[in-house]
Amino acid sequence: MANIPSEFIDQLLDRVDIVDIISPRVTLKKAGKDYQALCPFHTENTPSFTVSPNKQFYHCFGCGKHGSAIGFMMEFEGMEFVDSIETLAQMAGMEVPNQGNYQHSNKGKNLYEVMDKANRYFVNEFNQSEFAKNYIQDRGISAETYQVFQVGFAPDSWDGLIKYMPTTPQNDLMQAGLLAQNDNGRIYDKFRGRLMFPIQDKRGRVIAFGGRAVMQDQKPKYLNSPETPLFHKGKELYGLNIARKHSNAKSVIVVEGYMDVIALHQVGIKNSVATLGTATSEHHIITLLRSYEEIVFCFDGDNAGVEAAWKALVISLPVYRDDKNIRFLFLPDNHDPDTYVKEFGQEAFQQQMVNATSLSEFLLTKLKESIDLNSIDGRAKFIDKSKTYVNDLPKGQFRKLLLEEVSNLTKTKVDFILNPKTTNIQSIDQWTPIRKAIAILINQPNLVLNFPKDLAFNEIKQNGANILQEIVEFCHRSPHISSAVLLENFREHQAFSHLSSLATVSLDLNEEQMQLELKDIKKHFEKTIQKHKIARLREKKAQTELTAEEKIELVNLLTNQIT
Ligand code: CTP
Ligand code: MN
Repeated sequence: MANIPSEFIDQLLDRVDIVDIISPRVTLKKAGKDYQALCPFHTENTPSFTVSPNKQFYHCFGCGKHGSAIGFMMEFEGMEFVDSIETLAQMAGMEVPNQGNYQHSNKGKNLYEVMDKANRYFVNEFNQSEFAKNYIQDRGISAETYQVFQVGFAPDSWDGLIKYMPTTPQNDLMQAGLLAQNDNGRIYDKFRGRLMFPIQDKRGRVIAFGGRAVMQDQKPKYLNSPETPLFHKGKELYGLNIARKHSNAKSVIVVEGYMDVIALHQVGIKNSVATLGTATSEHHIITLLRSYEEIVFCFDGDNAGVEAAWKALVISLPVYRDDKNIRFLFLPDNHDPDTYVKEFGQEAFQQQMVNATSLSEFLLTKLKESIDLNSIDGRAKFIDKSKTYVNDLPKGQFRKLLLEEVSNLTKTKVDFILNPKTTNIQSIDQWTPIRKAIAILINQPNLVLNFPKDLAFNEIKQNGANILQEIVEFCHRSPHISSAVLLENFREHQAFSHLSSLATVSLDLNEEQMQLELKDIKKHFEKTIQKHKIARLREKKAQTELTAEEKIELVNLLTNQIT
């Protein structure tokens, strides 16, 4: 594949978002968890072109075209494979390496080092600044806590950081978002006279900073790192790695501010994270539901808070899971979590957590708002309003129960309301276990963690068993990749087009159901393998003698038969 290391392609696809690539070229409309559009590759009047941010994959149900961001550039811009990669890399601020000069696993290594060094500078400055330490202590934060969060301080200087890192190319500092440039081309420290909160990724690497104003008349109150190759605001959550490290709670609390996370930690509530001055995104929710059983969104009780909570609810619906919980906590007016725990204490906050509103309650209350369910007009309005939201939910118990509730409230039969989108969804009931397993893993590679890689695939003796083996082994090596990354690694594979068409299938299964399917399939294979082994040994026994080991194996197989 030209000379581009596949590891680089993985990183590239990890960094770019296919929605960002396609949306300037095709007008996309949000539809559930995907986007839809009129297909750019054939003429049509109703949209059958879909883009899946989860899978990082596009697909047209009309003409069948599909692929990753790389494939899209090739198809849409008529580019060669390598040009497409070059273009995407440029957009992502990455340099395409050659096989020769590529240092493996070095994704933006330089920039991480730059950020790490800058962080050390800010922390040093903080430790030497009585002013900064007084500020944070006045806010009730102990040394132990501010050290956990590595709170720093950027002195009020134009070139403190530049001077601290004389050997780092300015270009790198610029790329890391640590410098600013004025109209005359003069370059200077971006963060000046600010308390610094390092934003870390899941692995604890510093990828950005939030800087809080601490001087009089200083604006804006918070200055954050710009988007850089390491930092994508809508994807990151402040405090996630610290929450994971310091707490094994099953719930996570989502708050709005840096200081809220730190103040909660200070009083012993160590399982909170903050969005970074952005609305909650679907990506945030998916990330959190991977590690936690429950998300509790915590907002101010004012109008803005309720509105933000409603937005979070709407975003959650398409990724809602029956096995998880989402709840909403509204604090009394004029309080954020920081001021709340300061005034009422940790226990009062825990009590608020216990009383938090469930998603269904919040949804139904909001839908019922200013509607008279005693009148036919009111009930009709209610059904109409509910429909959109209910249909955004994946099929499952929760959706069913909610429909029943709507039906009870409106005295209307459920199937009268129910009008789910059935297009695009394929039933995999008729498929062979191998095809099913491959489809599930392509759709959600991390589910491989419930599937053994040491199965005797060669004993399955069915078409595609070897491909399944390759996919299982690949996913075990890197389970947290998107469908697109998985597929790009099979671009040269003879089954590539087959595999990528499986990625376009919208499996009508939630994660739990997919896991159950995989479990069944695994059992089926183990049974098959056992059957084949027994048959082979018996056949041998009929012709010649079995060795002592073979005899034991046969007895073992026969006594432990999987039913
Ligand atoms: N924010 C931002 N840019 C601003 C203001 C706010 O990015 N100009 C983001 C920050 O992530 C901030 C969050 O929005 O933490 C909440 O803002 P706000 O409630 O104003 O600040 P607090 O976090 O409460 O900070 P403090 O308690 O220090 O006032
Ligand atoms: Mn605050």
